[in-house]
Amino acid sequence: MTTPALGVCYYPEHWPEDWWDRDAARMAEVGIAWVRIGEFAWSRLEPTPGNLTFDWIIRAMDVLGRHGLKVVFGTPTATPPRWMIDKHPDMLAVDAQGRRKGFGSRRHYDFSHLGYREEAARITRLLADAVGNHPALGAWQTDNEYGCHGTTYSYSPAAQEGFQRWLTKKYGTADALNQAWGNVFWSMEYNRFEQVELPNLLVCDAAPAHDLDFRRYASDQVAAFNKVQFDILKAVRPDLPVIHNFMSRYTEFDHYDVAETLDIASWDSYPLGHLAVSGEPEEIKRLYMRQGDPDNAAFHHDLYRAVGHGRWWIMEQQPGPVNWAQFNPDPLPGMARLWAWEAFAHGAEVVTYFRWRQAPFAQEQMHAGLLRPDSEPAPAYHEAIQVAEELKAVGLDGTATKGRVAIVFDYQSEWAWEIQPQAKGFSHGAHVRALYAAFRKHGVDIDVLPPSTNSFAGYDIVAIPALFAWNDDLRTAMTDFEGYLLIGPRSGSKTQDFSIPPGLAPDLPSNLLDVKVTRIDSIDPSLEIEVKGSGAIHHWRERLETKANVIIEDVDGWPVLVSQGKLFYLGASGTRSLVQRVVDYLIAEADLPTLTLPAGVRCRTRNGFRIYVNYAAGPATLTPAKDEAGYVLGSADMPAAGVTVARLATGA
Ligand code: GAL
Repeated sequence: MTTPALGVCYYPEHWPEDWWDRDAARMAEVGIAWVRIGEFAWSRLEPTPGNLTFDWIIRAMDVLGRHGLKVVFGTPTATPPRWMIDKHPDMLAVDAQGRRKGFGSRRHYDFSHLGYREEAARITRLLADAVGNHPALGAWQTDNEYGCHGTTYSYSPAAQEGFQRWLTKKYGTADALNQAWGNVFWSMEYNRFEQVELPNLLVCDAAPAHDLDFRRYASDQVAAFNKVQFDILKAVRPDLPVIHNFMSRYTEFDHYDVAETLDIASWDSYPLGHLAVSGEPEEIKRLYMRQGDPDNAAFHHDLYRAVGHGRWWIMEQQPGPVNWAQFNPDPLPGMARLWAWEAFAHGAEVVTYFRWRQAPFAQEQMHAGLLRPDSEPAPAYHEAIQVAEELKAVGLDGTATKGRVAIVFDYQSEWAWEIQPQAKGFSHGAHVRALYAAFRKHGVDIDVLPPSTNSFAGYDIVAIPALFAWNDDLRTAMTDFEGYLLIGPRSGSKTQDFSIPPGLAPDLPSNLLDVKVTRIDSIDPSLEIEVKGSGAIHHWRERLETKANVIIEDVDGWPVLVSQGKLFYLGASGTRSLVQRVVDYLIAEADLPTLTLPAGVRCRTRNGFRIYVNYAAGPATLTPAKDEAGYVLGSADMPAAGVTVARLATGA
């Protein structure tokens, strides 16, 4: 569809105006095509209410345009200026402890505050009218990283009123709500919707359905906030794409829903920071400290490709040390190049580095850019030049090749198991990522699917782990599927109203899968239960009543993996080695072609090219695959942080 391109994030308001021209000239020299501006500039665009000063940003766009650069214009709604708080004192969000958040950083607004939503619409409209027809404009970004710094949820009066309205619409009568939430349980029944409070500051747990509905409500507010801006921007320039920049492992709102009003999804990839703040084991953190988790960025590339209905970008790419993790290592030389190549391998249209020049002031002064604060090139500057030249030489275009394996990722299942973990550490995302990594070790291309998928046609293997409740689409997809399907653990263990289904989990007809989960054994996270053969269970195992084939059982004789035809059910949380064993078994059953990859090397195919990346701290040697017709970049001998691109034989 598109030829991949590079971009950079630029803040003209941070630098003297007489620097802009030289900056833009250097960007063009690097081979950068896109420049994102504007997303935090509100106090310079409207210094006092109604006093609009857009002239400088238009001049900045003129300068960028003169150098052939295209602009992504970010609406500045993540950083309302101080005067806005005087105008709407109650627009500040309230945390779960009931404390009002203060002004002096960013994202200090409440998604439920309709007055602020209108202010966001107003500035978006004014900017769209002022810059919408500028010749350098190529795309819009709405706001910045919805939800960052824990800002999806607010426990304010505005949120409470909004939630009550949302519940009225959903349930119609208080009786229906009482029934859905199981409010008879502790005499929690309501007579009117106005009595319903938010699920914080209660004596003990709220009913799980109450909590889940609040999360659904909060997620809907993010989607509604985005829609307001999308509608305005599209009305002015229907031809320009509207993009939002999402994050890594951030699940507080349903990204599929928000993307209903986006043309392109993007995400901000900071592999070293993300690994440092993740819950990955210490040995992984040490091994990949300067490279990042070899599967985390890739997983998000595939996730956001699904969120963006096939179209996605990296809006912010880590260029060097960041400032926000507990420690911030220098990436291995070559990683700023590798990360970009990996994104393109997964179908990215654009990879935008964050940021052009390191700022010597304020919160992110320790965050690297392509330039140092003294305007000299930082290492990533040269790596970006290299990527731009290589992209041209290789001639990569088209989109990511459709995978033969798919995994369903569902935001509501994330919320469900946070609300009711039952086993500390049990999470939907952890199950998805473990399967993802296990498939990827075999060099197979993986797609992520939303829970609204109603057909799995074209895939050889589909996995649905830890899905809290079935919906009609997934039931249809599953029933019609002719490939290999892996379900479990905990899938279908709730209804959409967060109750146990009458037929018990996994809540499937016995002709499809004759399995009933009759008991749960959740265990101390430091303990493991061995499985016969190899591998172990942690966190969670299910007692299965089943007539299906038992393929793996644990040392106590409990069935762990069972199958009925091509449908497999995994009734436990597996350690890495057990998940790998299950995946290896499925791949062999499905007779899926695989690659033999050295440790630390990963790959993905895009439109006739297979791109290998070496996340190991040392060299690695590839075994050329049968379907490849030679290397067009790099060779079988990959240095640390190396990239090798193979051309696939025609017809492969
Ligand atoms: C992102 C954010 C940027 C910048 C960056 C630093 O989360 O969108 O504005 O703060 O992190 O790594």
